[in-house]
Parts: sequence; C-alpha cells; structure tokens
Amino acid sequence: MTGAGHGIGLATAQALAADGYKIVAVDRDRGALEAADLPAGSLLVEHDLAAVNSDVLATLPEDVRVGVLVNNVGVMDGRSFLELPVADAARVLQTNIVGSWAVTRAVVDHMLARSVRGSIVFNLSLHASRVRMCPDYSMSKAALAMLMQELAVELGPAGIRVNAVSPGAIDTGQVPTEEAQAHRERSAALVALGRVGEPEDVAKVIAWLCSEQAGYVTGTDVRVDGGLFHYNWLHHLYGSAAAERDRTR
Ligand SMILES: NC(=O)c1ccc[n+]([C@@H]2O[C@H](COP(=O)([O-])OP(=O)(O)OC[C@H]3O[C@@H](n4cnc5c(N)ncnc54)[C@H](O)[C@@H]3O)[C@@H](O)[C@H]2O)c1
Repeated sequence: MTGAGHGIGLATAQALAADGYKIVAVDRDRGALEAADLPAGSLLVEHDLAAVNSDVLATLPEDVRVGVLVNNVGVMDGRSFLELPVADAARVLQTNIVGSWAVTRAVVDHMLARSVRGSIVFNLSLHASRVRMCPDYSMSKAALAMLMQELAVELGPAGIRVNAVSPGAIDTGQVPTEEAQAHRERSAALVALGRVGEPEDVAKVIAWLCSEQAGYVTGTDVRVDGGLFHYNWLHHLYGSAAAERDRTR
C-alpha cells in the first residue's frame, strides 16, 4: 500500500486489514506512518517513489508474501504548463509514473517468483480523462490508466488481476480551513449524490477490487465520484439538473 500515511491510502489500509490482510504500509514520510491510525501489526516501510533505484521490498522479512498492491501515491505541482519548469514537471512524472512502475515491477517479480495469483489496483483520478489545469498531474494519471490496461493483459495469464479506481472530489481533511469548507460545498453542488466523497468511499471499492468477489474483473477503471464525472455544461448554464428540468417543462 503506497502513500499509506494519510488520506485514501490510510483508509484503504484499514479496509484491507478488516478483510484479513496484513498491511505493508509504504510512505516517504516515516513520521506520518508512525502517527497514523494504521492497523495493528502493519509493517512500516519508508520509501520515496521519486527514488526509483531503491527496492521497495528490500527491508521486508523473507517470509512475507505480497498478494495485493495498491499504487496509491500521486502528487501534483499545481502550476500551469507555462509556469512549470521542466525539471519540476519531471519530478512529478518521475514520482507518479516511473515510481509506480518501479514499485509495481518489484511486486510483480515477487508475485511471479512465488506463483502468487495477486491483485494490483492503481489509484487514478477523473483527471486521467478530464482536464485538471494541472497538466503534469492529469498526464501522469492518463499514463497510469494505460499502464493498468497493458498490465491486465500481460499479467492475466499469470493470474494477476490489474484494475484502477478513479476518485472524484474526496475530502481527506488535509486543510481544515474556512476556504477548504467553502471549496467542499462548491464541489458538493456538482456531485449527483450531493456530497464530496470520504476516503472510505474509495477504500471500500479498492478492497472489493482486491477481493475474490472481483475475481473475474481485470483491466477496469471504476469511477468512485458520486456521479461528478457526469457534471456538464448544461449544469453550468442552468445552475443544476433540477433547474434545467424545470426550464424545459
Ligand atoms: N483526494 C482527492 O480528492 C483525490 C481525487 C482523485 C484522486 N486522488 C488520488 O488519490 C491518491 C491519494 O490521494 P490523497 O488525497 O489521499 O493524498 P494525501 O495527500 O491525503 O496522502 C498522500 C500520502 O502519500 C504520501 N506520499 C506523497 N508522495 C510520496 C512519495 N513520493 N513517496 C511515498 N509516499 C508519498 C504522503 O506522505 C501521504 O501520506 C493520489 O494518487 C491522488 O491523485 C485523490
């Protein structure tokens, strides 16, 4: 589980532990891992996905058998294409794309060497296919969406399933300010189900994809967005789906 120290990663570690998994919690922030409410018995691994030459599994005890990988880490810079120096864009792409590739390669080698019929889930975003105005981020998510599909086909014969989730607006409580609350309310107004998501909403779907109940599911990207993906220009023009319905009556 990468990025297990906070947010969706932490919630997913808890959901997988409830399903009986022992958690290998990977994060670049050792303090976050130690402070987090991780399930008892979790193995903590300090690893920065930007450092692609270090082996994420190197410090694990010999008898650990990894059956599930959740590629959860995804960073963004926040600046536009014209503002973002190439070196800073490269750091994001290195972390999100190459870092996830390196972790996945280490885990797949581990699974194949032990004949583990495992499950891999990538945490993408609606912005794998929708403009985010953060091109470094959306480009990296689109690349991972394609990697997920490639791996589903390449690793399927070995019994390894590869899927993804694409969360919408999820409240990870990162900045509990008035501005963040106003942003949450504005976001909720765009969501068909009328609220922003909680990390647990995403965690439950990842845990399901990892489970045997999804044993015939591979190469799929499940949106976990309360319907946000379907927000469109009509809502923008007329205020809401209800207002548009009233207008056309
Ligand atoms: N929160 C949302 O609204 C949202 C929406 C769509 C997609 N996502 C995706 O969900 C994933 C998790 O997002 P979140 O909001 O829960 O994040 P978060 O900021 O709450 O937590 C991220 C965790 O990852 C760790 N991390 C960051 N960079 C790392 C690196 N280079 N190496 C190792 N660990 C690193 C951080 O220390 C932190 O513990 C990301 O891939 C993000 O793109 C989030």
